[in-house]
Amino acid sequence: MGSVKSEQPAAGPGSEAVGGDTFVLAHLSDFHLGFPDGAGVKELLNKRVLGYLMWRLRRRAEHRPEVLEALVFDLRDARPDHIVVTGDLTHLGLPAEFLRARQWLSALGPPSKVTVVPGNHDAYVRDAWGGPVAQWSDYMVSDGVSSPDPMVPLGLFPTVRIRGPFAVIGVCTARPSLPLLAVGTIGRAQLARLERVLETTGRQDLYRIVLIHHPPVPGTVTWHRRLTDSAAFRAVLARQGAELVLHGHAHRTSMHQLSTPAGRVPVIGVPSASALGRASGRGARYHLYFIRRDHRGWNVRIAVRAYSPQAEHFAAGDDPPTTLPST
Ligand SMILES: [Fe+2]
Repeated sequence: MGSVKSEQPAAGPGSEAVGGDTFVLAHLSDFHLGFPDGAGVKELLNKRVLGYLMWRLRRRAEHRPEVLEALVFDLRDARPDHIVVTGDLTHLGLPAEFLRARQWLSALGPPSKVTVVPGNHDAYVRDAWGGPVAQWSDYMVSDGVSSPDPMVPLGLFPTVRIRGPFAVIGVCTARPSLPLLAVGTIGRAQLARLERVLETTGRQDLYRIVLIHHPPVPGTVTWHRRLTDSAAFRAVLARQGAELVLHGHAHRTSMHQLSTPAGRVPVIGVPSASALGRASGRGARYHLYFIRRDHRGWNVRIAVRAYSPQAEHFAAGDDPPTTLPST
């Protein structure tokens, strides 16, 4: 699948529709970039102690930089028109982790071609929010916004990036939560802004791709990892519609459809992009979307790229390519 190319590069803001050409979108998530050796004891005195212990016990061996290196290599071959990353780039929300994540984002591409929404691990404790805003703001902000206010990070969202006939809409669910919880919340104010964004971009006949870290479909993850206001989010989708919702957080592939008066909205989750998967069988994956508009509407084909720990590179996954119904 890496050899499949768009026939034309993605158009920039305000440009004409891509028409019959194919837009290639890559969806990555949940890097869980590791604990930096230089972090001080003081930084670990709070909820991070539990996270650190979890990291030492399990995740440090699972989420590996060499997998991300292979990912970057594979993406260079796939050459997507745009890349989206749905959160949990860091593990403990430490300053050095945000910087390290920034370096990986730079390896993926420039901010104009990569869109990020944060996950719960990126807002692990209350004072961590400055990290994503300071280090990743150019990968998160809406078109035309240069310097978000670090005091009101949630005011950034939803973000809107227009690429030809595509609207990439970023929703933030990242809030600090109590120890042993990994819940997410969108909040009323952001939901109200999201409703207006979906209404406007829908009226403009754009293909609306909504990015959100926590899965909005009940049962996708356990109660202690849920999206607390998922019902309100689904109600917004039911009223305004969307063409595609992409999420992370679950660390496995999931595919649902939400019914709305205007049709069904695909909701698709992707596993971690950095997992070795030796013990769990849940090795790193990412999804490529080939999106094209013809006389019948929007056609979407999905290809899975999976990491092989034996071969140490990504290749076509066992899952057969999926085609979404035309919309
Ligand atoms: Fe998460």
